[in-house]
Amino acid sequence: MNDAKHNGHANLRSRAWFAPSDINGSSHRTYLRAEGFSSRVFDGRPVIGICNSWSELTACNAHLRQVAEAVKRGVWAAGGFPLEFPTISLGEVLMKPSTMLYRNLMAMDVEECIRAYPLDAVVLLCGCDKTTPAQLMGAASADVPAIMVTGGPMLRGMWRNQELGSGTDTRRLWAEKRAGRLSDEEWCEIEGCISRSAGHCMVMGTASTMTSIAEALGMTLPGCAHIPAADSRRLAIAEESGRRAVELALEDLRPSKILTPAAFENAIRVDMAIGGSTNAIIHLIAIAGRLGIDLPLEKFDELSRSTPFIVNIRPSGKYLMEDLYYAGGLPAVMKEIAPLLHLDALTVTGKSIGENIAGAACYNRAIIRPLAEPLQPEGGTVVLKGNLAPHGAVIKQSAASPLLMKHRGPAVVFEDYADLMARIDDPALEVTEDSVLVLKNAGPKGAPGMPEWGDMPLPARLLKAGVTDMVRISDARMSGTAYGTVVLHVSPESAVGGPLAVVKTGDLIELDVHARKLELRIPEAELKQRLAAWRPPAPHYERGYGRMFLDHILQAHEGCDFDYLRAVRGARPVTAAPTVAALP
Ligand code: FES
Repeated sequence: MNDAKHNGHANLRSRAWFAPSDINGSSHRTYLRAEGFSSRVFDGRPVIGICNSWSELTACNAHLRQVAEAVKRGVWAAGGFPLEFPTISLGEVLMKPSTMLYRNLMAMDVEECIRAYPLDAVVLLCGCDKTTPAQLMGAASADVPAIMVTGGPMLRGMWRNQELGSGTDTRRLWAEKRAGRLSDEEWCEIEGCISRSAGHCMVMGTASTMTSIAEALGMTLPGCAHIPAADSRRLAIAEESGRRAVELALEDLRPSKILTPAAFENAIRVDMAIGGSTNAIIHLIAIAGRLGIDLPLEKFDELSRSTPFIVNIRPSGKYLMEDLYYAGGLPAVMKEIAPLLHLDALTVTGKSIGENIAGAACYNRAIIRPLAEPLQPEGGTVVLKGNLAPHGAVIKQSAASPLLMKHRGPAVVFEDYADLMARIDDPALEVTEDSVLVLKNAGPKGAPGMPEWGDMPLPARLLKAGVTDMVRISDARMSGTAYGTVVLHVSPESAVGGPLAVVKTGDLIELDVHARKLELRIPEAELKQRLAAWRPPAPHYERGYGRMFLDHILQAHEGCDFDYLRAVRGARPVTAAPTVAALP
Protein backbone atom coordinates (compact mmCIF):
# COMPACT_ATOMS: atom_id res chain seq x y z
CA MET A 1 0.00 0.00 0.00
CA ASN A 2 1.15 3.54 -0.64
CA ASP A 3 -0.32 6.99 -0.22
CA ALA A 4 -0.90 7.52 -3.94
CA LYS A 5 -3.01 4.42 -4.11
CA HIS A 6 -5.23 5.65 -1.28
CA ASN A 7 -5.65 9.26 -2.21
CA GLY A 8 -8.96 9.10 -4.10
CA HIS A 9 -11.13 11.95 -2.86
CA ALA A 10 -8.59 13.40 -0.49
CA ASN A 11 -11.06 15.49 1.50
CA LEU A 12 -13.19 12.58 2.56
CA ARG A 13 -13.37 12.01 6.26
CA SER A 14 -12.63 8.29 5.87
CA ARG A 15 -9.23 9.05 4.33
CA ALA A 16 -7.90 9.86 7.80
CA TRP A 17 -8.49 6.21 8.67
CA PHE A 18 -7.63 4.42 5.42
CA ALA A 19 -5.12 6.55 3.45
CA PRO A 20 -2.07 6.58 5.73
CA SER A 21 0.74 4.15 4.93
CA ASP A 22 1.70 3.91 8.57
CA ILE A 23 0.79 1.14 10.97
CA ASN A 24 -2.44 2.86 11.95
CA GLY A 25 -3.73 3.00 8.37
CA SER A 26 -2.64 -0.56 7.86
CA SER A 27 -4.49 -1.64 10.95
CA HIS A 28 -7.71 0.04 9.79
CA ARG A 29 -7.48 -1.67 6.40
CA THR A 30 -6.46 -5.04 7.75
CA TYR A 31 -9.41 -5.39 10.05
CA LEU A 32 -11.90 -4.64 7.29
CA ARG A 33 -10.12 -7.04 4.93
CA ALA A 34 -10.85 -9.65 7.57
CA GLU A 35 -14.45 -9.36 6.39
CA GLY A 36 -13.32 -10.36 2.90
CA PHE A 37 -13.10 -6.98 1.20
CA SER A 38 -10.35 -6.52 -1.39
CA SER A 39 -7.84 -3.67 -1.22
CA ARG A 40 -9.87 -1.82 -3.89
CA VAL A 41 -12.35 -0.59 -1.28
CA PHE A 42 -9.62 1.66 0.09
CA ASP A 43 -8.96 3.40 -3.22
CA GLY A 44 -10.48 6.65 -2.05
CA ARG A 45 -14.14 5.89 -2.67
CA PRO A 46 -16.63 7.32 -0.16
CA VAL A 47 -17.44 5.07 2.77
CA ILE A 48 -21.17 5.00 3.32
CA GLY A 49 -22.54 3.83 6.65
CA ILE A 50 -25.93 2.17 6.67
CA CYS A 51 -27.37 2.87 10.11
CA ASN A 52 -29.89 0.10 10.59
CA SER A 53 -32.59 0.01 13.26
CA TRP A 54 -33.48 -3.54 12.23
CA SER A 55 -34.53 -5.81 15.06
CA GLU A 56 -36.79 -8.80 15.46
CA LEU A 57 -38.02 -7.03 18.58
CA THR A 58 -39.13 -4.11 16.41
CA ALA A 59 -41.56 -5.87 14.08
CA CYS A 60 -42.15 -2.69 12.05
CA ASN A 61 -38.43 -2.63 11.13
CA ALA A 62 -37.92 -6.38 10.72
CA HIS A 63 -37.55 -6.07 6.91
CA LEU A 64 -34.79 -3.47 7.06
CA ARG A 65 -31.99 -5.99 6.46
CA GLN A 66 -33.47 -6.50 3.00
CA VAL A 67 -33.78 -2.74 2.54
CA ALA A 68 -30.12 -2.40 3.56
CA GLU A 69 -29.09 -4.84 0.82
CA ALA A 70 -30.85 -2.64 -1.73
CA VAL A 71 -29.03 0.42 -0.37
CA LYS A 72 -25.72 -1.42 -0.72
CA ARG A 73 -26.46 -2.17 -4.38
CA GLY A 74 -26.87 1.54 -4.96
CA VAL A 75 -23.72 2.46 -3.05
CA TRP A 76 -21.55 -0.05 -4.92
CA ALA A 77 -23.05 1.00 -8.28
CA ALA A 78 -22.21 4.65 -7.58
CA GLY A 79 -18.63 3.85 -6.61
CA GLY A 80 -18.97 3.88 -2.83
CA PHE A 81 -18.09 1.38 -0.13
CA PRO A 82 -21.13 0.47 2.03
CA LEU A 83 -20.79 -0.69 5.63
CA GLU A 84 -23.94 -1.57 7.57
CA PHE A 85 -24.04 -1.11 11.33
CA PRO A 86 -26.69 -1.62 14.01
CA THR A 87 -27.86 0.64 16.77
CA ILE A 88 -30.38 -0.03 19.46
CA SER A 89 -33.89 -0.26 18.07
CA LEU A 90 -37.14 0.94 19.60
CA GLY A 91 -40.08 -1.42 19.13
CA GLU A 92 -43.18 0.52 20.04
CA VAL A 93 -45.30 -2.39 21.17
CA LEU A 94 -42.90 -4.65 23.05
CA MET A 95 -40.56 -2.14 24.72
CA LYS A 96 -41.60 -1.10 28.25
CA PRO A 97 -42.39 1.16 29.94
CA SER A 98 -42.19 3.28 26.79
CA THR A 99 -39.97 3.69 23.75
CA MET A 100 -39.95 7.38 24.58
CA LEU A 101 -37.79 6.55 27.59
CA TYR A 102 -35.13 5.36 25.12
CA ARG A 103 -35.49 7.77 22.17
CA ASN A 104 -32.62 9.92 23.42
CA LEU A 105 -30.46 6.86 24.10
CA MET A 106 -30.93 5.74 20.49
CA ALA A 107 -30.21 9.27 19.26
CA MET A 108 -26.93 9.22 21.22
CA ASP A 109 -26.10 5.77 19.83
CA VAL A 110 -26.70 6.99 16.26
CA GLU A 111 -24.73 10.20 16.80
CA GLU A 112 -21.73 8.55 18.42
CA CYS A 113 -21.53 5.71 15.86
CA ILE A 114 -21.54 8.21 13.00
CA ARG A 115 -18.97 10.34 14.77
CA ALA A 116 -16.68 7.52 15.84
CA TYR A 117 -16.47 5.50 12.61
CA PRO A 118 -14.83 6.35 9.27
CA LEU A 119 -18.02 7.37 7.49
CA ASP A 120 -18.29 9.95 4.73
CA ALA A 121 -22.08 9.76 4.59
CA VAL A 122 -24.76 7.70 6.22
CA VAL A 123 -28.04 6.14 5.11
CA LEU A 124 -30.52 6.00 7.98
CA LEU A 125 -32.99 3.10 8.00
CA CYS A 126 -36.00 3.56 10.23
CA GLY A 127 -39.73 2.94 10.48
CA CYS A 128 -41.31 2.35 13.86
CA ASP A 129 -42.35 5.51 15.71
CA LYS A 130 -39.31 6.69 17.66
CA THR A 131 -36.68 5.23 15.35
CA THR A 132 -37.21 8.08 12.87
CA PRO A 133 -36.80 11.05 15.23
CA ALA A 134 -33.96 9.30 17.09
CA GLN A 135 -32.01 8.89 13.85
CA LEU A 136 -32.74 12.45 12.73
CA MET A 137 -31.62 13.82 16.11
CA GLY A 138 -28.41 11.78 16.07
CA ALA A 139 -27.61 12.60 12.45
CA ALA A 140 -28.30 16.29 13.04
CA SER A 141 -25.85 16.36 15.93
CA ALA A 142 -23.15 14.37 14.11
CA ASP A 143 -23.66 16.52 10.99
CA VAL A 144 -22.10 14.08 8.54
CA PRO A 145 -23.95 13.95 5.17
CA ALA A 146 -27.05 11.80 5.69
CA ILE A 147 -30.07 10.52 3.81
CA MET A 148 -33.00 8.65 5.32
CA VAL A 149 -34.80 5.62 3.91
CA THR A 150 -38.00 4.92 5.79
CA GLY A 151 -39.33 1.37 5.96
CA GLY A 152 -42.82 2.12 4.67
CA PRO A 153 -46.27 1.30 6.03
CA MET A 154 -47.81 -2.15 6.26
CA LEU A 155 -50.45 -3.25 3.77
CA ARG A 156 -54.04 -2.56 4.86
CA GLY A 157 -55.44 -4.88 7.52
CA MET A 158 -58.36 -6.94 6.17
CA TRP A 159 -60.98 -8.80 8.24
CA ARG A 160 -64.13 -10.29 6.71
CA ASN A 161 -63.81 -7.80 3.85
CA GLN A 162 -63.46 -4.88 6.27
CA GLU A 163 -60.36 -2.71 5.95
CA LEU A 164 -58.67 -2.32 9.33
CA GLY A 165 -56.08 0.21 10.41
CA SER A 166 -53.48 -0.76 12.98
CA GLY A 167 -53.96 0.79 16.39
CA THR A 168 -56.99 2.85 15.39
CA ASP A 169 -59.29 -0.07 14.61
CA THR A 170 -57.72 -2.19 17.33
CA ARG A 171 -58.93 0.38 19.85
CA ARG A 172 -62.36 0.72 18.25
CA LEU A 173 -62.90 -3.03 18.11
CA TRP A 174 -61.50 -3.57 21.62
CA ALA A 175 -64.11 -1.14 22.90
CA GLU A 176 -66.72 -3.25 21.03
CA LYS A 177 -65.36 -6.37 22.74
CA ARG A 178 -65.48 -4.70 26.18
CA ALA A 179 -69.06 -3.73 25.46
CA GLY A 180 -69.82 -7.41 24.71
CA ARG A 181 -70.41 -6.99 20.98
CA LEU A 182 -67.43 -9.08 19.74
CA SER A 183 -66.65 -12.69 20.73
CA ASP A 184 -63.26 -14.12 21.75
CA GLU A 185 -63.20 -16.13 18.51
CA GLU A 186 -63.78 -13.05 16.39
CA TRP A 187 -61.08 -11.19 18.30
CA CYS A 188 -58.60 -14.01 17.67
CA GLU A 189 -59.31 -13.75 13.93
CA ILE A 190 -58.77 -9.98 14.03
CA GLU A 191 -55.40 -10.43 15.76
CA GLY A 192 -54.29 -12.56 12.82
CA CYS A 193 -55.18 -10.20 9.99
CA ILE A 194 -54.86 -6.62 11.16
CA SER A 195 -51.05 -6.60 10.67
CA ARG A 196 -50.41 -8.68 7.58
CA SER A 197 -47.09 -7.52 6.16
CA ALA A 198 -43.77 -5.94 7.02
CA GLY A 199 -43.76 -2.25 7.78
CA HIS A 200 -44.97 0.28 10.30
CA CYS A 201 -48.54 1.06 11.34
CA MET A 202 -50.57 1.99 8.27
CA VAL A 203 -52.74 4.74 9.69
CA MET A 204 -51.52 8.33 10.13
CA GLY A 205 -49.97 7.37 13.46
CA THR A 206 -46.65 8.53 14.76
CA ALA A 207 -44.63 6.37 12.37
CA SER A 208 -46.42 7.58 9.23
CA THR A 209 -46.34 11.13 10.55
CA MET A 210 -42.62 11.09 11.31
CA THR A 211 -41.69 9.47 7.99
CA SER A 212 -43.80 12.11 6.23
CA ILE A 213 -41.99 14.75 8.25
CA ALA A 214 -38.59 13.30 7.33
CA GLU A 215 -39.56 13.71 3.68
CA ALA A 216 -40.99 17.19 4.26
CA LEU A 217 -37.75 18.22 5.98
CA GLY A 218 -35.90 17.20 2.84
CA MET A 219 -34.06 14.27 4.40
CA THR A 220 -35.41 11.53 2.04
CA LEU A 221 -35.78 11.20 -1.69
CA PRO A 222 -39.16 12.52 -2.87
CA GLY A 223 -41.99 10.01 -2.52
CA CYS A 224 -40.16 7.80 -0.03
CA ALA A 225 -42.44 8.06 2.99
CA HIS A 226 -45.61 6.41 1.71
CA ILE A 227 -44.44 3.48 -0.44
CA PRO A 228 -45.78 0.36 1.31
CA ALA A 229 -43.08 -1.76 2.92
CA ALA A 230 -44.05 -4.75 0.81
CA ASP A 231 -44.00 -2.84 -2.50
CA SER A 232 -41.00 -3.50 -4.75
CA ARG A 233 -40.64 0.27 -5.17
CA ARG A 234 -39.52 0.42 -1.52
CA LEU A 235 -36.36 -1.48 -2.47
CA ALA A 236 -35.92 0.57 -5.62
CA ILE A 237 -35.94 3.85 -3.70
CA ALA A 238 -33.52 2.31 -1.18
CA GLU A 239 -31.14 1.55 -4.06
CA GLU A 240 -31.51 5.10 -5.38
CA SER A 241 -30.85 6.47 -1.90
CA GLY A 242 -27.64 4.44 -1.71
CA ARG A 243 -26.51 5.98 -4.98
CA ARG A 244 -27.41 9.44 -3.77
CA ALA A 245 -25.52 8.91 -0.50
CA VAL A 246 -22.27 8.57 -2.44
CA GLU A 247 -22.94 11.90 -4.15
CA LEU A 248 -23.86 13.51 -0.83
CA ALA A 249 -20.47 12.49 0.56
CA LEU A 250 -18.67 14.04 -2.38
CA GLU A 251 -20.80 17.19 -2.22
CA ASP A 252 -20.41 17.38 1.58
CA LEU A 253 -24.13 18.16 1.80
CA ARG A 254 -24.70 17.96 5.56
CA PRO A 255 -27.94 17.85 7.60
CA SER A 256 -27.21 21.35 8.96
CA LYS A 257 -27.58 22.71 5.40
CA ILE A 258 -30.96 21.01 4.99
CA LEU A 259 -32.50 21.22 8.47
CA THR A 260 -33.07 24.97 8.48
CA PRO A 261 -35.87 27.00 10.09
CA ALA A 262 -37.62 27.01 6.70
CA ALA A 263 -37.46 23.21 6.52
CA PHE A 264 -38.99 22.93 9.99
CA GLU A 265 -41.82 25.28 9.05
CA ASN A 266 -42.47 23.10 5.99
CA ALA A 267 -42.54 20.03 8.23
CA ILE A 268 -45.01 21.63 10.64
CA ARG A 269 -47.26 22.64 7.73
CA VAL A 270 -47.18 19.07 6.44
CA ASP A 271 -47.90 17.71 9.93
CA MET A 272 -50.97 19.91 10.13
CA ALA A 273 -52.16 19.13 6.61
CA ILE A 274 -51.94 15.36 7.11
CA GLY A 275 -53.59 15.34 10.56
CA GLY A 276 -50.34 14.03 12.01
CA SER A 277 -49.68 12.53 15.40
CA THR A 278 -49.41 14.80 18.42
CA ASN A 279 -46.06 13.12 19.09
CA ALA A 280 -44.64 14.96 16.09
CA ILE A 281 -44.61 18.19 18.06
CA ILE A 282 -42.28 16.76 20.70
CA HIS A 283 -40.01 15.15 18.12
CA LEU A 284 -39.79 18.22 15.89
CA ILE A 285 -38.87 20.44 18.84
CA ALA A 286 -36.16 17.92 19.79
CA ILE A 287 -34.71 17.59 16.27
CA ALA A 288 -34.68 21.36 15.78
CA GLY A 289 -33.09 21.79 19.21
CA ARG A 290 -30.12 19.72 18.03
CA LEU A 291 -29.43 22.46 15.48
CA GLY A 292 -29.96 25.33 17.87
CA ILE A 293 -33.34 26.15 16.32
CA ASP A 294 -36.11 27.05 18.76
CA LEU A 295 -39.60 25.81 17.91
CA PRO A 296 -41.92 27.23 20.57
CA LEU A 297 -45.39 25.69 20.86
CA GLU A 298 -46.78 29.03 19.66
CA LYS A 299 -45.17 28.39 16.26
CA PHE A 300 -47.14 25.15 15.90
CA ASP A 301 -50.38 26.89 16.82
CA GLU A 302 -49.69 29.78 14.46
CA LEU A 303 -49.06 27.44 11.52
CA SER A 304 -51.95 25.18 12.51
CA ARG A 305 -54.40 28.08 12.29
CA SER A 306 -53.38 28.76 8.70
CA THR A 307 -52.88 25.21 7.39
CA PRO A 308 -56.00 23.33 6.26
CA PHE A 309 -56.26 19.65 7.12
CA ILE A 310 -56.57 17.89 3.75
CA VAL A 311 -55.49 14.24 4.04
CA ASN A 312 -58.32 11.78 4.66
CA ILE A 313 -56.49 9.03 6.57
CA ARG A 314 -57.40 7.34 9.85
CA PRO A 315 -57.54 8.09 12.73
CA SER A 316 -58.72 11.55 11.65
CA GLY A 317 -60.14 10.38 8.32
CA LYS A 318 -61.34 7.32 6.43
CA TYR A 319 -58.56 5.73 4.37
CA LEU A 320 -55.21 4.03 5.02
CA MET A 321 -51.58 4.77 4.09
CA GLU A 322 -51.57 2.39 1.13
CA ASP A 323 -54.41 4.44 -0.35
CA LEU A 324 -52.49 7.66 0.23
CA TYR A 325 -49.53 6.30 -1.70
CA TYR A 326 -51.73 5.37 -4.67
CA ALA A 327 -53.30 8.84 -4.49
CA GLY A 328 -49.91 10.45 -5.10
CA GLY A 329 -48.19 10.25 -1.71
CA LEU A 330 -46.48 13.09 0.08
CA PRO A 331 -45.29 14.91 -3.07
CA ALA A 332 -48.95 15.33 -4.08
CA VAL A 333 -49.84 16.54 -0.57
CA MET A 334 -46.98 19.04 -0.60
CA LYS A 335 -47.92 20.23 -4.07
CA GLU A 336 -51.44 20.90 -2.78
CA ILE A 337 -50.17 23.04 0.08
CA ALA A 338 -47.33 24.54 -1.97
CA PRO A 339 -48.58 28.13 -1.51
CA LEU A 340 -47.93 27.67 2.22
CA LEU A 341 -44.44 26.17 1.92
CA HIS A 342 -40.91 27.54 1.65
CA LEU A 343 -40.36 26.05 -1.79
CA ASP A 344 -36.72 27.05 -1.92
CA ALA A 345 -35.74 24.82 1.04
CA LEU A 346 -32.83 22.56 0.08
CA THR A 347 -33.19 18.76 0.23
CA VAL A 348 -30.95 15.70 -0.01
CA THR A 349 -31.53 15.61 -3.76
CA GLY A 350 -29.44 18.76 -3.97
CA LYS A 351 -32.56 20.46 -5.30
CA SER A 352 -35.25 22.47 -3.58
CA ILE A 353 -38.55 21.10 -2.29
CA GLY A 354 -40.24 23.12 -5.02
CA GLU A 355 -38.19 21.41 -7.71
CA ASN A 356 -38.78 18.00 -6.13
CA ILE A 357 -42.57 18.30 -6.17
CA ALA A 358 -42.93 20.14 -9.48
CA GLY A 359 -44.11 17.00 -11.31
CA ALA A 360 -46.31 15.63 -8.50
CA ALA A 361 -49.99 14.94 -9.13
CA CYS A 362 -53.00 13.81 -7.11
CA TYR A 363 -54.89 10.76 -8.40
CA ASN A 364 -57.66 10.56 -5.82
CA ARG A 365 -59.38 13.66 -4.48
CA ALA A 366 -61.29 11.67 -1.85
CA ILE A 367 -57.95 11.09 -0.12
CA ILE A 368 -55.98 14.29 -0.81
CA ARG A 369 -58.49 17.11 -0.78
CA PRO A 370 -57.97 20.35 -2.69
CA LEU A 371 -56.62 23.16 -0.53
CA ALA A 372 -59.82 25.10 -1.16
CA GLU A 373 -62.04 22.19 -0.04
CA PRO A 374 -60.28 20.84 3.05
CA LEU A 375 -61.61 18.37 5.59
CA GLN A 376 -61.13 21.09 8.21
CA PRO A 377 -59.99 24.67 7.72
CA GLU A 378 -57.29 24.37 10.40
CA GLY A 379 -54.51 21.91 11.08
CA GLY A 380 -54.97 18.67 12.98
CA THR A 381 -53.18 19.61 16.20
CA VAL A 382 -53.62 22.75 18.28
CA VAL A 383 -51.92 24.11 21.39
CA LEU A 384 -53.84 24.91 24.57
CA LYS A 385 -52.79 27.09 27.48
CA GLY A 386 -54.31 28.06 30.81
CA ASN A 387 -53.77 27.71 34.53
CA LEU A 388 -53.83 23.92 34.18
CA ALA A 389 -51.05 23.99 31.55
CA PRO A 390 -48.95 27.14 31.96
CA HIS A 391 -46.36 25.87 29.46
CA GLY A 392 -48.90 24.36 27.13
CA ALA A 393 -50.76 21.20 26.21
CA VAL A 394 -51.89 19.81 22.88
CA ILE A 395 -55.04 18.26 21.44
CA LYS A 396 -55.56 16.59 18.10
CA GLN A 397 -58.73 18.39 17.11
CA SER A 398 -59.02 16.46 13.86
CA ALA A 399 -59.56 13.25 15.87
CA ALA A 400 -61.72 14.80 18.63
CA SER A 401 -65.51 14.95 18.96
CA PRO A 402 -66.93 18.29 17.73
CA LEU A 403 -69.45 18.33 20.60
CA LEU A 404 -66.70 18.17 23.22
CA MET A 405 -64.45 20.88 21.81
CA LYS A 406 -66.01 23.28 24.29
CA HIS A 407 -66.76 21.46 27.51
CA ARG A 408 -66.98 22.08 31.23
CA GLY A 409 -67.17 19.16 33.61
CA PRO A 410 -66.12 17.78 36.99
CA ALA A 411 -62.76 16.00 37.22
CA VAL A 412 -62.46 12.31 38.01
CA VAL A 413 -58.81 12.02 39.07
CA PHE A 414 -56.49 9.02 38.83
CA GLU A 415 -53.21 9.43 40.67
CA ASP A 416 -51.27 7.23 38.24
CA TYR A 417 -51.74 4.54 35.59
CA ALA A 418 -52.11 1.73 38.11
CA ASP A 419 -54.88 3.69 39.83
CA LEU A 420 -56.57 4.22 36.45
CA MET A 421 -56.47 0.53 35.60
CA ALA A 422 -57.67 -0.47 39.06
CA ARG A 423 -60.71 1.82 39.16
CA ILE A 424 -61.86 2.73 35.65
CA ASP A 425 -64.35 -0.17 35.46
CA ASP A 426 -65.28 -0.09 39.15
CA PRO A 427 -69.09 0.07 39.27
CA ALA A 428 -68.76 2.36 42.31
CA LEU A 429 -66.76 4.99 40.35
CA GLU A 430 -68.79 8.19 40.27
CA VAL A 431 -68.51 9.17 36.63
CA THR A 432 -70.83 10.37 33.91
CA GLU A 433 -70.26 11.19 30.26
CA ASP A 434 -69.83 14.84 31.30
CA SER A 435 -66.96 14.02 33.66
CA VAL A 436 -63.38 14.93 32.71
CA LEU A 437 -60.97 12.03 33.26
CA VAL A 438 -57.63 13.25 34.66
CA LEU A 439 -54.48 11.12 34.81
CA LYS A 440 -51.45 12.30 36.81
CA ASN A 441 -47.85 11.08 36.94
CA ALA A 442 -47.73 9.99 33.31
CA GLY A 443 -45.22 12.57 32.02
CA PRO A 444 -41.48 12.41 31.22
CA LYS A 445 -40.37 12.03 34.87
CA GLY A 446 -43.60 10.84 36.40
CA ALA A 447 -44.35 7.68 34.42
CA PRO A 448 -41.35 7.63 33.64
CA GLY A 449 -40.79 8.12 29.91
CA MET A 450 -44.11 9.77 29.06
CA PRO A 451 -45.88 6.65 27.73
CA GLU A 452 -48.87 6.69 25.40
CA TRP A 453 -51.41 6.45 28.20
CA GLY A 454 -53.29 9.65 27.34
CA ASP A 455 -56.23 8.05 25.53
CA MET A 456 -57.56 6.56 28.76
CA PRO A 457 -60.16 3.82 28.34
CA LEU A 458 -63.73 4.92 28.94
CA PRO A 459 -65.55 3.25 31.85
CA ALA A 460 -67.14 0.01 30.59
CA ARG A 461 -70.45 1.05 32.13
CA LEU A 462 -70.56 4.16 29.93
CA LEU A 463 -69.34 2.26 26.87
CA LYS A 464 -72.21 -0.18 27.26
CA ALA A 465 -74.58 2.77 27.49
CA GLY A 466 -73.31 3.96 24.10
CA VAL A 467 -70.86 6.69 25.16
CA THR A 468 -68.03 6.86 22.60
CA ASP A 469 -65.90 9.79 23.79
CA MET A 470 -65.16 11.87 26.89
CA VAL A 471 -62.73 14.68 27.65
CA ARG A 472 -59.49 13.20 28.98
CA ILE A 473 -56.49 15.19 30.28
CA SER A 474 -52.99 14.07 31.23
CA ASP A 475 -49.29 14.78 31.02
CA ALA A 476 -48.88 11.60 28.96
CA ARG A 477 -48.63 11.22 25.20
CA MET A 478 -51.10 9.39 22.97
CA SER A 479 -50.45 6.96 20.18
CA GLY A 480 -50.79 8.61 16.82
CA THR A 481 -53.22 5.84 15.94
CA ALA A 482 -55.59 6.85 18.75
CA TYR A 483 -58.51 9.24 18.67
CA GLY A 484 -60.90 11.08 20.96
CA THR A 485 -61.10 14.39 22.82
CA VAL A 486 -57.80 13.87 24.55
CA VAL A 487 -55.66 16.67 25.98
CA LEU A 488 -52.01 15.64 26.16
CA HIS A 489 -48.49 16.80 27.07
CA VAL A 490 -49.71 19.02 29.91
CA SER A 491 -46.63 21.02 30.92
CA PRO A 492 -45.15 21.27 33.45
CA GLU A 493 -46.01 17.66 34.27
CA SER A 494 -47.51 16.68 37.60
CA ALA A 495 -44.34 14.91 38.81
CA VAL A 496 -42.42 18.20 38.82
CA GLY A 497 -45.21 20.15 40.49
CA GLY A 498 -47.27 21.38 37.56
CA PRO A 499 -50.84 22.39 38.43
CA LEU A 500 -52.09 19.02 37.16
CA ALA A 501 -50.56 17.56 40.34
CA VAL A 502 -53.12 19.28 42.57
CA VAL A 503 -56.37 18.65 40.69
CA LYS A 504 -58.93 16.90 42.89
CA THR A 505 -61.94 14.82 41.96
CA GLY A 506 -64.91 17.12 41.66
CA ASP A 507 -62.93 20.23 40.57
CA LEU A 508 -64.47 21.87 37.53
CA ILE A 509 -62.31 21.87 34.39
CA GLU A 510 -63.04 23.93 31.30
CA LEU A 511 -61.78 23.07 27.81
CA ASP A 512 -62.26 25.46 24.92
CA VAL A 513 -60.35 24.30 21.87
CA HIS A 514 -61.39 27.21 19.69
CA ALA A 515 -60.17 29.70 22.32
CA ARG A 516 -57.11 27.46 23.00
CA LYS A 517 -57.98 27.38 26.73
CA LEU A 518 -57.54 24.76 29.43
CA GLU A 519 -58.57 26.03 32.85
CA LEU A 520 -58.99 24.60 36.32
CA ARG A 521 -61.95 26.49 37.74
CA ILE A 522 -60.89 26.90 41.36
CA PRO A 523 -59.98 30.15 43.13
CA GLU A 524 -56.41 31.30 42.45
CA ALA A 525 -55.61 31.42 46.17
CA GLU A 526 -56.77 27.80 46.54
CA LEU A 527 -54.55 26.74 43.63
CA LYS A 528 -51.55 28.49 45.17
CA GLN A 529 -52.22 26.89 48.53
CA ARG A 530 -52.44 23.41 47.02
CA LEU A 531 -49.22 23.92 45.02
CA ALA A 532 -47.37 25.11 48.13
CA ALA A 533 -48.38 21.93 49.95
CA TRP A 534 -47.39 19.61 47.08
CA ARG A 535 -44.45 17.21 47.56
CA PRO A 536 -42.64 15.42 44.70
CA PRO A 537 -42.97 11.65 44.29
CA ALA A 538 -39.96 9.41 44.89
CA PRO A 539 -37.73 9.12 41.78
CA HIS A 540 -38.18 5.97 39.70
CA TYR A 541 -34.47 5.27 39.27
CA GLU A 542 -31.36 5.50 41.44
CA ARG A 543 -28.79 4.31 38.87
CA GLY A 544 -27.96 3.64 35.23
CA TYR A 545 -29.61 5.12 32.18
CA GLY A 546 -32.84 5.70 34.09
CA ARG A 547 -31.00 7.96 36.56
CA MET A 548 -29.42 9.88 33.69
CA PHE A 549 -32.85 10.23 32.10
CA LEU A 550 -34.41 11.64 35.27
CA ASP A 551 -31.51 14.04 35.83
CA HIS A 552 -31.52 15.53 32.34
CA ILE A 553 -34.91 15.08 30.66
CA LEU A 554 -36.61 18.27 29.51
CA GLN A 555 -40.36 18.84 29.61
CA ALA A 556 -42.76 18.13 26.74
CA HIS A 557 -42.86 21.72 25.47
CA GLU A 558 -39.05 21.54 25.20
CA GLY A 559 -39.07 18.31 23.17
CA CYS A 560 -38.11 15.87 25.96
CA ASP A 561 -34.47 15.88 24.85
CA PHE A 562 -31.67 15.79 27.40
CA ASP A 563 -30.61 19.28 28.43
CA TYR A 564 -26.97 18.68 27.45
CA LEU A 565 -27.78 17.40 23.96
CA ARG A 566 -29.39 20.57 22.66
CA ALA A 567 -27.04 22.69 20.59
CA VAL A 568 -26.66 26.30 21.58
CA ARG A 569 -25.57 27.48 18.14
CA GLY A 570 -25.71 25.14 15.19
CA ALA A 571 -24.74 21.51 15.11
CA ARG A 572 -21.87 20.21 17.16
CA PRO A 573 -18.71 19.84 15.06
CA VAL A 574 -17.68 16.39 13.98
CA THR A 575 -14.61 15.22 15.83
CA ALA A 576 -11.64 14.91 13.50
CA ALA A 577 -10.59 11.41 12.59
CA PRO A 578 -8.01 9.93 14.95
CA THR A 579 -4.34 10.47 14.31
CA VAL A 580 -3.38 7.56 16.50
CA ALA A 581 -5.18 4.29 16.01
CA ALA A 582 -5.70 1.84 18.80
CA LEU A 583 -4.22 -1.46 17.82
CA PRO A 584 -5.72 -4.29 19.76
FE1 FES B 1 -44.29 0.30 15.07
FE2 FES B 1 -46.90 1.21 15.13
S1 FES B 1 -45.93 -0.33 16.34
S2 FES B 1 -45.23 1.89 13.97
